[in-house]
Amino acid sequence: MSILIKTPEEIEKMRVAGRLAAQVLEMIEPYVKPGVTTDKLDQLCHDFIVNEQRAIPAPLNYHGFPKSICTSINFQVCHGIPCEKKLKKGDIINIDITVIKDEFHGDTSMMFHVGEPSIKGKRIVDVSHECLIEGIKLVKPGSKLGDIGEAIQNYAETRGFSVVREYCGHGIGRGFHEDPQVMHFGKAGTGVTLQEGMTFTIEPMINIGNRQVKVLKDNWTVVTKDHSLSAQWEHTLLVTPVGCEVLTLREGETI
Ligand code: MF3
Ligand code: CO
Ligand code: CO
Repeated sequence: MSILIKTPEEIEKMRVAGRLAAQVLEMIEPYVKPGVTTDKLDQLCHDFIVNEQRAIPAPLNYHGFPKSICTSINFQVCHGIPCEKKLKKGDIINIDITVIKDEFHGDTSMMFHVGEPSIKGKRIVDVSHECLIEGIKLVKPGSKLGDIGEAIQNYAETRGFSVVREYCGHGIGRGFHEDPQVMHFGKAGTGVTLQEGMTFTIEPMINIGNRQVKVLKDNWTVVTKDHSLSAQWEHTLLVTPVGCEVLTLREGETI
């Protein structure tokens, strides 16, 4: 396993890629309304990334993924493929954006409520966001990845939710998925020690029901086995001398 420590020049490029990914989420927000298809959201994001940002949508053709963004609705956990289906009031949807600019990746996702949130929808969206924040708070030199995993798992499970184990955060840079793997469960004091100049994502997937998932026949869409709601948020982070910088922070967002 080799974790790449980014140089100041590479960090500057990661900042640019991260900001672009965040700006795609800012752009798409007003379109996430009842009646819109996920294909339409994909097309809007694709055109914005390619024509306005002069960047590359990383998911497109990544191991054969057919679209430019991932859209995961309700009991879909991650890697949902945009299609002609319309969003409806009360749905929750994760939109996951990864762009490549000047060779470097920025990767971020967030949840949206479609129309008025349902009680359960609001709860899982809020708790999964708080799980991401719990993880981010621990990112600093000397912390261990197990500290982050345990904090997220503990936050979710003490509130009666479960953590998906099959998918994790990841190092990121010139590669979309670099070392290390960033688990959203585990034991404090174990695993890789964080060092200044590391860049990686945290992207917990939290279920209302149990943690079991399966992949649909399209070979991509991950869903909860019990069809309970699932939610996920993701940021790309840089380890700094004093803590961390959120490279994919959106306008007006505070951690
Ligand atoms: N963006 C996802 C992640 O957070 C990966 C999507 S891979 C794709 O790591 F092929 F489904 F796009
Ligand atoms: Co990611
Ligand atoms: Co992502």
